[in-house]
Amino acid sequence: MNPEQLKGRSLLTWKDYSAEEIRYLLDLSKEVKKQKKQGELHQRFIGKTLALIFEKRSTRTRCAFETAFGEEGGHPVFLSTQDIQLGAKESVEDTARVLGRMFDAIEFRGFKQETVEKLAAYSGVPVYNGLTDVFHPTQAIADIMTLEEAFGTSRGKKLCFVGDGRNNVARSLMVICSKLGVNFTVVTPHALEPDRSLVEQCHMYAAESGSSIEITDNTDAVSGADAIYTDVWVSMGEESQRESRIQLLRPYQVNQALMNKTGKKEAIFLHCLPAVKGEEVSPDVIDGNQSRAWDQAENRKHTVKAIMLATIK
Ligand code: CP
Ligand code: NVA
Repeated sequence: MNPEQLKGRSLLTWKDYSAEEIRYLLDLSKEVKKQKKQGELHQRFIGKTLALIFEKRSTRTRCAFETAFGEEGGHPVFLSTQDIQLGAKESVEDTARVLGRMFDAIEFRGFKQETVEKLAAYSGVPVYNGLTDVFHPTQAIADIMTLEEAFGTSRGKKLCFVGDGRNNVARSLMVICSKLGVNFTVVTPHALEPDRSLVEQCHMYAAESGSSIEITDNTDAVSGADAIYTDVWVSMGEESQRESRIQLLRPYQVNQALMNKTGKKEAIFLHCLPAVKGEEVSPDVIDGNQSRAWDQAENRKHTVKAIMLATIK
């Protein structure tokens, strides 16, 4: 793969990237992590600017982008919806045109996938999806990196997402796993299954990579899993559905009994965070020795650094 083909590219969903391109970004992520651990200083974003737009709250995504860009000499600018005329007094298209004249890249976190798509279409600079209602691609690459650090490889491993199967994290994992040859199982009540069209598309990626996708409401399906992954039962923006979600998902809590159902002592636990301990995961599991949630959080930074290095011209 020629790294030049990534220059100027946006990351809106992993659907737009080939397995080879994702592989390249994962390898680069590991390289920049090693450089950081060895105390090597680089200034690869010197003279560059990055706009960080947030319609929703964030700890990891904001800090990952801001520190990864800043420590390489770049100038990140944080813009919440309190500060910027995005869609309120100015159209998304016009905002994108203006930001594209001032920034070398844009990160967006918010509600609609359409907004991040418009920013990419009208700004003329790389735009990174830092989470929408539909996808969370910068999370998914950090998750695969963490899986690979634990097992040396991700190909052929079994990753089970247990919880709200139609949320942004589950959907992004389904795309990246099926592209990379990771066997992906979603354990979720029927009412929360991911949409058929995405599942069908991912079945095509999986056929090409030689992996499988399984959607089930039966927690026995975690048998043989190398990693169990969960996320909050109520995503940002869905707070009004809290009571019904809890009713639906209570049988799907990741606790030690569920971890044991994998039949593998070496199985790891993953969570994108923030977590509601006692709901989707029991405190002993997330804070226990099978948990890799804190590595995942750290890897957010190394992976977004790699993505920006590869795509900013
Ligand atoms: N995992 C994640 O995206 O965390 P934040 O919401 O804190 O950015
Ligand atoms: N599904 C969660 C992920 C948070 C990182 C949400 O959208 O709130």
